[in-house]
Amino acid sequence: MYIAVVGTGYVGIPTGVCLAELGNDVICVDRDPLRIEKLKRGKMPIYEPGLKELLLKNVQAGRLSFTIHLDSAIESSEIIFIAVGTPQADNGEADMSQVLSVAADIGRNLKGHKVVINKSTVPVGSGELVGRRIREHQVDKEASFDIVSNPEFLREGSAVSDTMKPERIIIGSDNNAAAEKVVQLYKPLNAPVLITDLRTAEMIKYASNSFLATKISFVNAIANLCERIGADVTTVARGMGLDSRIGPLFLNAGLGYGGSCFPKDVKALIATAERNGIELSILREVERINIYQRELFLSKIREKLGIVSGKRIGVLGLAFKPNTDDMREAPSVPILNELIAAGAVACAYDPMAFESASSMITGLIRAADPYEAALDADVLLILTEWNEFLELDFIKLKERMHKPVIIDGRNIYDIERMSAYGFDYISMGRPGNRLLQGSTAGD
Ligand SMILES: NC(=O)c1ccc[n+]([C@@H]2O[C@H](COP(=O)([O-])OP(=O)(O)OC[C@H]3O[C@@H](n4cnc5c(N)ncnc54)[C@H](O)[C@@H]3O)[C@@H](O)[C@H]2O)c1
Repeated sequence: MYIAVVGTGYVGIPTGVCLAELGNDVICVDRDPLRIEKLKRGKMPIYEPGLKELLLKNVQAGRLSFTIHLDSAIESSEIIFIAVGTPQADNGEADMSQVLSVAADIGRNLKGHKVVINKSTVPVGSGELVGRRIREHQVDKEASFDIVSNPEFLREGSAVSDTMKPERIIIGSDNNAAAEKVVQLYKPLNAPVLITDLRTAEMIKYASNSFLATKISFVNAIANLCERIGADVTTVARGMGLDSRIGPLFLNAGLGYGGSCFPKDVKALIATAERNGIELSILREVERINIYQRELFLSKIREKLGIVSGKRIGVLGLAFKPNTDDMREAPSVPILNELIAAGAVACAYDPMAFESASSMITGLIRAADPYEAALDADVLLILTEWNEFLELDFIKLKERMHKPVIIDGRNIYDIERMSAYGFDYISMGRPGNRLLQGSTAGD
């Protein structure tokens, strides 16, 4: 099939590349000329494991190309994916301006029949809104289109495998023929498909992300109680996760969720609920616990350092999660900005995210590796659980440090092992680091 993917970000590029890999003819469009120029030269504007290789393969095969010209891309395609950003607006709802601007362009350039697929995460009712916007700008009144909602569930860091082997594909449309066309598009993936109406598909995306965020905040609240009573949250979570009704994933206690999706999607669902007279107070609590985790982590640091000013802080990991360079809503940003503002010197190593992090964290010093980050440090912070941090030369690491203190926001090390190396090791919700008296997730 001939496909246009509008927006070449963390969703648009994997979508375009994987659809080309399935044999389709794909043109990816972005309004950012530098981004498109990079992509044309085979350079990646984002880091995502395995994506570059697949992109180059499909460009070479002549199935994948890039342009800034939305008009010609629309004209040459039978299916148009909208995969532009929907950041948080000031009122908490999703900012639909990028999506609606694409919809207007589709209207202006509409010829023949097109299936327009919303892959961006958009509030319930947006499919109809996009349809109205296309019609408002439609020049060729003979042309026609159908709207499909096909929310994206890929995880940054494993976007290629998530796109090629999805656990489910949601296809929402009020038109059976359009839904069937999208079913055919995804047929080679052999994934479970759920066909719904437009609004239900849009709701599935928000309900899924909000549920996952709830799981994380729940285990963090339990972690804080574990810390107070001397239980180990990692074992508690393992014990819970063995129950198939609960499942083992998304039960890692620590600094809480971040990234470009969960924070804004939780906020947007709260706002949608409010606008419709429903109080989703459970999600307000999810947000509150999430913010509290960072404050708790900072209080652990302050307790260890005493006076923060002049202290040297080593940092392992900046990205909001491993295997990505995405720094959007990364907990490292407020934590390090606060410590640096209090006079600390912070030196950080991240395998991929330092460049984008340095524009968000003023005064952050770059380390070439974990040992350089640890040099002369009064404390070493673990902020992202990159695999390469799991097996370090801990003797060397300790020798480099001014004081052998590790505060681990991701619970990646074994407590006994760290203590055998002689570290003062503090983590989240595990024995050995009692929660400061008087502070709980409920405070
Ligand atoms: N990042 C994720 O892991 C993820 C997962 C699932 C769903 N989503 C959703 O997918 C959508 C895209 O997210 P993302 O992370 O890829 O965003 P992004 O910010 O990385 O990329 C969006 C791209 O769209 C381009 N763009 C904006 N307006 C445009 C226009 N009018 N014409 C052409 N290009 C335009 C921007 O230049 C940018 O390159 C969002 O709604 C997000 O919530 C994201």
